[in-house]
Amino acid sequence: MKSLSPAVLAEPDLSDLRRAAVPRPAQAACVVWLTGLSGAGKSTLAEGLRARLVRCGVPVAVLDGDTVRQGLSRGLGFSEQDRRENVRRIAEVARLLSAQGVLVVVAAISPRHAQRTMARQIVGAAYREVHVDAPVGLCEHRDVKGLYARVRRGELRQFTGVSDAYEAPATPDLRIDTAALGIAEAVQQLTVALVGRWMAASRAAAPDAELAR
Ligand code: ADX
Repeated sequence: MKSLSPAVLAEPDLSDLRRAAVPRPAQAACVVWLTGLSGAGKSTLAEGLRARLVRCGVPVAVLDGDTVRQGLSRGLGFSEQDRRENVRRIAEVARLLSAQGVLVVVAAISPRHAQRTMARQIVGAAYREVHVDAPVGLCEHRDVKGLYARVRRGELRQFTGVSDAYEAPATPDLRIDTAALGIAEAVQQLTVALVGRWMAASRAAAPDAELAR
């Protein structure tokens, strides 16, 4: 029989895994809910925050509207009723994950006050609302997915900010002005709020210094 190489026999280094697996106090649970127009930067911010947290061993899940709509919310459209159902499903999954110690970052337009109030009720005390704010003119100018152009050609109806309402949060936990900030600065602002304020209860457990860098 061929002998196993020392690399195969070596004990795997589980220190990072163990650190991530330490149960966190309930107060540390956070569902960071990014709301804003299509093209405002929600997904970019969510991925930027995820990268930082993962680097520090924090278990994190991103629930992005575009991705959720490919599976869990497949078949739902953009009527007010369908958006409400989409938001409800995202909030329920966020609650389940959060209860198991996962830090959840949601990126969903969630355009109506009532939808976000529902999300807050489902998620509970862990809910933190972040308005990813950019004027519709700028989102249209960026038009990362080419959707605004399709709207102007009459191919998409009920498009948020153009032919459908977006109700900006009046008192979000944080507002990030992505018209004024670059991506790195915006991620930094979000990370500082999360680590410095919202996860403050877990200071002793979380590797703060590294996260805020
Ligand atoms: S939500 O309103 O139900 O919260 P969600 O965030 O899941 O929306 O999905 C929004 C994404 O769907 C947009 O980023 C865009 O890529 C795509 N989309 C397609 N049609 C529309 C539309 N009519 N309004 C807004 N977004 C749309």
